[in-house]
Amino acid sequence: MSIRYEPGAPAGEGFIPLCVPEVRGNEWKYIKECLDSGWVSSVGSFVERLERDLARYVGVEHAVATVNGTAALHVALLVAGVEPNDEVLVSTLTFIAPANAIRYVGAWPVFMDAEPDYWQMDPAKVADFLEKECRWSEGQLLNRATGRRVKAILPVHILGHPLDLDPILDLARKYELAVIEDSTEALGAKYKSQSIGCQGDIACFSFNGNKIITTGGGGMIVTDNEAWGERARYLTTQAKDDPVEYVHGAIGYNYRLTNLQAAMGCAQLEQIEDYIAAKRRIAASYQKALSSVPGIVPMREATWAFSTYWMYTVRVDEKRFGMDSRALLRRLEQAGIQTRPLWQPLHRSPAHAGCASYRCEVADELVRDALSLPCSVGLNEEQQSVVIANLRSLAG
Ligand SMILES: Cc1ncc(COP(=O)(O)O)c(C=O)c1O
Repeated sequence: MSIRYEPGAPAGEGFIPLCVPEVRGNEWKYIKECLDSGWVSSVGSFVERLERDLARYVGVEHAVATVNGTAALHVALLVAGVEPNDEVLVSTLTFIAPANAIRYVGAWPVFMDAEPDYWQMDPAKVADFLEKECRWSEGQLLNRATGRRVKAILPVHILGHPLDLDPILDLARKYELAVIEDSTEALGAKYKSQSIGCQGDIACFSFNGNKIITTGGGGMIVTDNEAWGERARYLTTQAKDDPVEYVHGAIGYNYRLTNLQAAMGCAQLEQIEDYIAAKRRIAASYQKALSSVPGIVPMREATWAFSTYWMYTVRVDEKRFGMDSRALLRRLEQAGIQTRPLWQPLHRSPAHAGCASYRCEVADELVRDALSLPCSVGLNEEQQSVVIANLRSLAG
């Protein structure tokens, strides 16, 4: 696959891109302020402002900016007390970063299946796993098969749609597990009218190039837990106890976002409601046009959800459409339209071979069928009509 598939990369001359950043606000102005003032690095007013603005937007007490979403997940796992050899239940249908972050702390992912309606982590299977596959021993929840302590759930809200969070939070309370929400793809989404990122114990966002707002690369940890927020700030800034004498009280990380990047983030966050409105308009047009195309099954929004439709995705039913999702990808590519499949489910990832998984059959079907369509905030009506016309003409 070419470099065009890297997040936020321009699609190339004449291509309708999958999902590229939108820069039309104060980005230049704020970045110029950093350059003019010399505040370009990891301290500066824009870092603090982005933390403040994002905390207010999500409705949480504490926000800590990081170099990217993966670093945010790494530190969130540490502050949530996940230790080497613990297990963390995580969605199998997601980009690989959360599973990698679990390994960074020496813990083990246990991959959980997606449900078929909205393609998110299936709470019923999580409940089954905890009830049937785990047992209590001396105040600890242990996986019967591995004997390891189960410490946390790391559900991932994929594609801009929230997962069904209440049953997960109930299970977490019942089994005394921390909930670390990977909200990297769902900034601005809501679950039962509440923002994604304020309901679990701690949550992470990403400002990667293809995300709903971008800083080029960046991330954020959010939590209402003051001690966790302080610990996250400490660990992401090299665990510095004395900045003059360079005394460090723990092994920390150089994970702080730069002021330059935060400047871009502040400008992007000012635009987020417009961006979400654009994404939802694009989704509504696809929904209307594609529901009559045989074999194309558009993504849906649950009654309890407000989706940002960050990455608009359909299922391709090979029998009814006449070709499978990968053949369709190639045909659309020939027509100058960039699309992409979802991720290899993590229970099949060579990088995580040997890790446990629990009845992950739905994710396999979703990955076989799914194709994400062009859905940049800046996608215009003419471009979207070209995508729709191609899908219509290829159906058969
Ligand atoms: C679900 C998910 N988790 C984590 C990440 C990691 O974020 P970053 O690329 O900012 O490290 C991403 C995307 O990039 C993602 O899609």
